[in-house]
Amino acid sequence: MELCIALDLPNIEQNLQLLESIKEHNNLWIKVGFRSYIRDGKEFLKKIKEINPTFKIFLDLKLYDIPNTMADASEEIANLGVDMFNVHASSGKVAMQTVMERLSKLEKRPIVLAVTALTSFSNEEFKDVYSQDLAPTATKFAKDACEAGIDGVVCSAFESLDIKKSTSKEFLTLTPGIRPFGEDANDQQRVATIELANKNLVDFIVVGRPIYKSENPSAKVKQILERLELNF
Ligand code: C5P
Repeated sequence: MELCIALDLPNIEQNLQLLESIKEHNNLWIKVGFRSYIRDGKEFLKKIKEINPTFKIFLDLKLYDIPNTMADASEEIANLGVDMFNVHASSGKVAMQTVMERLSKLEKRPIVLAVTALTSFSNEEFKDVYSQDLAPTATKFAKDACEAGIDGVVCSAFESLDIKKSTSKEFLTLTPGIRPFGEDANDQQRVATIELANKNLVDFIVVGRPIYKSENPSAKVKQILERLELNF
Protein backbone atom coordinates (compact mmCIF):
# COMPACT_ATOMS: atom_id res chain seq x y z
CA MET A 1 0.00 0.00 0.00
CA GLU A 2 1.36 3.44 -0.94
CA LEU A 3 0.77 6.84 0.60
CA CYS A 4 -0.64 9.70 -1.49
CA ILE A 5 -0.75 13.15 0.07
CA ALA A 6 -3.51 15.56 -0.95
CA LEU A 7 -2.05 18.99 -1.63
CA ASP A 8 -5.14 20.97 -0.72
CA LEU A 9 -3.69 24.11 0.87
CA PRO A 10 -5.10 27.47 -0.25
CA ASN A 11 -2.06 28.85 -2.09
CA ILE A 12 1.11 27.77 -3.85
CA GLU A 13 3.39 29.05 -1.09
CA GLN A 14 1.74 26.87 1.54
CA ASN A 15 1.70 23.84 -0.77
CA LEU A 16 5.42 24.27 -1.49
CA GLN A 17 6.16 24.78 2.18
CA LEU A 18 4.40 21.50 2.98
CA LEU A 19 6.40 19.70 0.29
CA GLU A 20 9.66 21.18 1.61
CA SER A 21 8.78 19.97 5.09
CA ILE A 22 8.25 16.36 3.93
CA LYS A 23 10.94 16.14 1.24
CA GLU A 24 13.10 13.75 3.24
CA HIS A 25 10.59 10.97 2.46
CA ASN A 26 11.24 9.46 -0.96
CA ASN A 27 8.66 8.02 -3.36
CA LEU A 28 5.62 9.76 -1.90
CA TRP A 29 2.62 10.28 -4.17
CA ILE A 30 1.40 13.88 -4.32
CA LYS A 31 -2.21 14.55 -5.35
CA VAL A 32 -2.70 17.80 -7.27
CA GLY A 33 -6.33 18.76 -7.78
CA PHE A 34 -8.36 21.26 -9.82
CA ARG A 35 -7.72 24.17 -7.55
CA SER A 36 -3.95 24.18 -7.59
CA TYR A 37 -3.60 22.97 -11.18
CA ILE A 38 -5.95 25.66 -12.51
CA ARG A 39 -4.15 28.32 -10.49
CA ASP A 40 -0.53 27.18 -10.59
CA GLY A 41 -0.40 25.03 -13.74
CA LYS A 42 2.42 22.94 -15.10
CA GLU A 43 5.13 25.11 -13.56
CA PHE A 44 3.87 23.90 -10.20
CA LEU A 45 4.23 20.27 -11.29
CA LYS A 46 7.87 20.99 -12.21
CA LYS A 47 8.46 22.54 -8.80
CA ILE A 48 7.16 19.40 -7.07
CA LYS A 49 9.71 17.27 -8.91
CA GLU A 50 12.45 19.82 -8.18
CA ILE A 51 11.79 19.54 -4.45
CA ASN A 52 12.26 15.76 -4.59
CA PRO A 53 12.60 14.03 -7.98
CA THR A 54 11.31 10.76 -6.49
CA PHE A 55 7.93 12.36 -5.68
CA LYS A 56 5.23 10.97 -7.97
CA ILE A 57 2.35 13.14 -9.13
CA PHE A 58 -1.31 12.13 -9.25
CA LEU A 59 -3.13 14.78 -11.31
CA ASP A 60 -6.72 14.61 -10.06
CA LEU A 61 -8.63 16.33 -12.90
CA LYS A 62 -11.38 13.70 -13.44
CA LEU A 63 -11.76 14.00 -17.21
CA TYR A 64 -15.25 13.73 -18.73
CA ASP A 65 -15.88 14.55 -22.40
CA ILE A 66 -16.34 12.90 -25.78
CA PRO A 67 -13.88 10.05 -26.47
CA ASN A 68 -11.56 11.90 -28.86
CA THR A 69 -11.33 14.98 -26.62
CA MET A 70 -10.57 12.77 -23.61
CA ALA A 71 -7.85 10.94 -25.54
CA ASP A 72 -6.33 14.28 -26.64
CA ALA A 73 -6.35 15.58 -23.07
CA SER A 74 -4.90 12.32 -21.75
CA GLU A 75 -2.03 12.52 -24.19
CA GLU A 76 -1.31 16.09 -23.07
CA ILE A 77 -1.40 14.94 -19.44
CA ALA A 78 1.05 12.14 -20.24
CA ASN A 79 3.31 14.73 -21.89
CA LEU A 80 3.36 16.69 -18.63
CA GLY A 81 5.26 13.74 -17.13
CA VAL A 82 2.75 13.05 -14.36
CA ASP A 83 2.63 9.53 -12.94
CA MET A 84 -1.13 9.05 -12.50
CA PHE A 85 -4.38 10.79 -13.51
CA ASN A 86 -8.09 10.00 -13.58
CA VAL A 87 -11.22 10.07 -15.70
CA HIS A 88 -14.91 9.59 -14.91
CA ALA A 89 -16.08 6.01 -15.51
CA SER A 90 -19.49 7.45 -16.42
CA SER A 91 -17.89 8.95 -19.54
CA GLY A 92 -18.44 5.40 -20.85
CA LYS A 93 -16.51 2.36 -21.97
CA VAL A 94 -15.79 3.70 -25.45
CA ALA A 95 -14.25 6.89 -24.04
CA MET A 96 -12.11 4.93 -21.57
CA GLN A 97 -11.00 2.49 -24.29
CA THR A 98 -10.13 5.39 -26.59
CA VAL A 99 -8.02 6.96 -23.83
CA MET A 100 -6.13 3.72 -23.16
CA GLU A 101 -5.58 3.01 -26.87
CA ARG A 102 -4.14 6.48 -27.35
CA LEU A 103 -1.85 6.15 -24.33
CA SER A 104 -0.67 2.71 -25.40
CA LYS A 105 1.08 4.34 -28.36
CA LEU A 106 3.34 6.31 -26.02
CA GLU A 107 6.71 5.05 -24.86
CA LYS A 108 5.74 5.57 -21.22
CA ARG A 109 2.26 6.25 -19.89
CA PRO A 110 0.86 7.29 -16.51
CA ILE A 111 -1.38 5.02 -14.40
CA VAL A 112 -5.04 5.80 -15.25
CA LEU A 113 -7.81 5.53 -12.65
CA ALA A 114 -11.56 5.96 -13.05
CA VAL A 115 -13.92 7.66 -10.63
CA THR A 116 -16.99 5.43 -10.17
CA ALA A 117 -19.47 7.57 -8.19
CA LEU A 118 -18.63 10.84 -6.49
CA THR A 119 -18.95 10.24 -2.75
CA SER A 120 -20.80 13.51 -2.29
CA PHE A 121 -23.83 11.89 -3.98
CA SER A 122 -26.62 10.51 -1.84
CA ASN A 123 -28.47 7.60 -3.44
CA GLU A 124 -31.37 9.96 -4.25
CA GLU A 125 -29.17 12.53 -5.97
CA PHE A 126 -27.36 9.80 -7.87
CA LYS A 127 -30.66 8.33 -9.04
CA ASP A 128 -31.80 11.75 -10.18
CA VAL A 129 -28.81 11.96 -12.53
CA TYR A 130 -28.33 8.32 -13.61
CA SER A 131 -31.81 6.79 -13.02
CA GLN A 132 -30.11 3.86 -11.25
CA ASP A 133 -29.21 3.02 -7.66
CA LEU A 134 -25.75 4.13 -6.62
CA ALA A 135 -24.15 0.95 -5.22
CA PRO A 136 -24.80 -1.48 -8.12
CA THR A 137 -24.03 1.25 -10.66
CA ALA A 138 -20.69 2.05 -9.01
CA THR A 139 -19.76 -1.66 -9.27
CA LYS A 140 -20.85 -1.72 -12.90
CA PHE A 141 -18.74 1.39 -13.61
CA ALA A 142 -15.72 -0.33 -12.02
CA LYS A 143 -16.26 -3.39 -14.25
CA ASP A 144 -16.64 -1.17 -17.33
CA ALA A 145 -13.39 0.59 -16.45
CA CYS A 146 -11.56 -2.70 -15.99
CA GLU A 147 -12.88 -4.06 -19.30
CA ALA A 148 -11.85 -0.85 -21.02
CA GLY A 149 -8.25 -1.40 -19.90
CA ILE A 150 -8.18 1.26 -17.15
CA ASP A 151 -5.71 0.46 -14.34
CA GLY A 152 -8.01 0.97 -11.34
CA VAL A 153 -10.61 3.09 -9.58
CA VAL A 154 -11.00 5.79 -6.97
CA CYS A 155 -13.37 4.38 -4.33
CA SER A 156 -13.90 4.22 -0.59
CA ALA A 157 -11.80 1.83 1.50
CA PHE A 158 -15.07 0.07 2.38
CA GLU A 159 -15.74 -0.83 -1.30
CA SER A 160 -12.22 -1.80 -2.30
CA LEU A 161 -12.47 -5.54 -1.65
CA ASP A 162 -15.82 -5.96 -3.44
CA ILE A 163 -14.48 -4.09 -6.44
CA LYS A 164 -11.42 -6.35 -6.57
CA LYS A 165 -13.70 -9.41 -6.32
CA SER A 166 -15.83 -8.26 -9.25
CA THR A 167 -12.84 -7.19 -11.39
CA SER A 168 -9.42 -8.58 -10.48
CA LYS A 169 -6.95 -8.46 -7.62
CA GLU A 170 -4.58 -6.49 -9.82
CA PHE A 171 -7.18 -3.79 -10.56
CA LEU A 172 -5.93 -0.87 -8.45
CA THR A 173 -7.93 0.93 -5.78
CA LEU A 174 -7.14 4.41 -4.46
CA THR A 175 -9.10 5.50 -1.42
CA PRO A 176 -9.54 8.95 0.15
CA GLY A 177 -11.20 9.42 3.54
CA ILE A 178 -8.36 7.80 5.47
CA ARG A 179 -7.72 8.77 9.06
CA PRO A 180 -4.55 6.78 9.80
CA PHE A 181 -4.72 6.97 13.58
CA GLY A 182 -8.36 7.87 14.17
CA GLU A 183 -7.83 11.62 13.59
CA ASP A 184 -10.75 14.05 13.19
CA ALA A 185 -13.05 12.96 10.34
CA ASN A 186 -13.57 16.64 9.31
CA ASP A 187 -16.26 16.65 6.59
CA GLN A 188 -15.76 13.01 5.53
CA GLN A 189 -18.84 10.86 6.12
CA ARG A 190 -17.14 7.50 6.50
CA VAL A 191 -13.49 7.35 7.42
CA ALA A 192 -11.24 4.30 7.46
CA THR A 193 -7.99 3.43 9.19
CA ILE A 194 -4.86 1.99 7.59
CA GLU A 195 -5.78 -1.43 9.01
CA LEU A 196 -9.15 -1.43 7.28
CA ALA A 197 -7.62 -0.24 4.01
CA ASN A 198 -5.02 -2.98 4.25
CA LYS A 199 -7.63 -5.64 4.96
CA ASN A 200 -9.57 -4.52 1.90
CA LEU A 201 -6.44 -4.70 -0.30
CA VAL A 202 -6.30 -0.97 -1.03
CA ASP A 203 -3.32 0.01 -3.22
CA PHE A 204 -3.13 3.75 -2.49
CA ILE A 205 -4.42 5.69 0.52
CA VAL A 206 -5.03 9.43 0.11
CA VAL A 207 -4.42 11.50 3.23
CA GLY A 208 -4.85 15.25 3.36
CA ARG A 209 -5.77 17.08 6.54
CA PRO A 210 -4.31 14.58 9.02
CA ILE A 211 -0.92 15.45 7.47
CA TYR A 212 -1.09 19.10 6.50
CA LYS A 213 -2.98 20.17 9.61
CA SER A 214 -0.61 18.32 11.90
CA GLU A 215 1.96 20.27 13.96
CA ASN A 216 4.75 18.24 12.39
CA PRO A 217 3.76 16.93 8.92
CA SER A 218 7.06 15.12 8.41
CA ALA A 219 6.72 13.20 11.68
CA LYS A 220 3.14 12.30 10.73
CA VAL A 221 4.26 11.04 7.31
CA LYS A 222 7.00 8.98 9.01
CA GLN A 223 4.48 7.50 11.42
CA ILE A 224 2.13 6.56 8.53
CA LEU A 225 4.96 5.05 6.46
CA GLU A 226 6.08 2.97 9.42
CA ARG A 227 2.54 1.66 9.88
CA LEU A 228 2.31 0.85 6.15
CA GLU A 229 5.56 -1.13 6.40
CA LEU A 230 4.16 -3.11 9.33
CA ASN A 231 1.23 -4.23 7.24
CA PHE A 232 3.46 -6.05 4.76
O1 C5P B 1 -8.20 15.99 4.02
P1 C5P B 1 -8.66 14.64 3.57
O2 C5P B 1 -7.72 13.52 3.99
O3 C5P B 1 -10.09 14.37 3.90
O4 C5P B 1 -8.52 14.75 1.98
C1 C5P B 1 -8.97 13.79 1.09
C2 C5P B 1 -8.70 14.22 -0.32
O5 C5P B 1 -9.33 13.29 -1.18
C3 C5P B 1 -9.23 15.58 -0.72
O6 C5P B 1 -8.35 16.12 -1.71
C4 C5P B 1 -10.59 15.28 -1.30
O7 C5P B 1 -11.02 16.23 -2.24
C5 C5P B 1 -10.30 13.96 -2.00
N1 C5P B 1 -11.45 13.10 -2.26
C6 C5P B 1 -12.30 12.68 -1.24
N2 C5P B 1 -13.36 11.86 -1.55
C7 C5P B 1 -13.54 11.47 -2.80
C8 C5P B 1 -12.70 11.87 -3.82
C9 C5P B 1 -11.65 12.70 -3.51
O8 C5P B 1 -12.09 13.02 -0.10
N3 C5P B 1 -14.52 10.65 -3.06
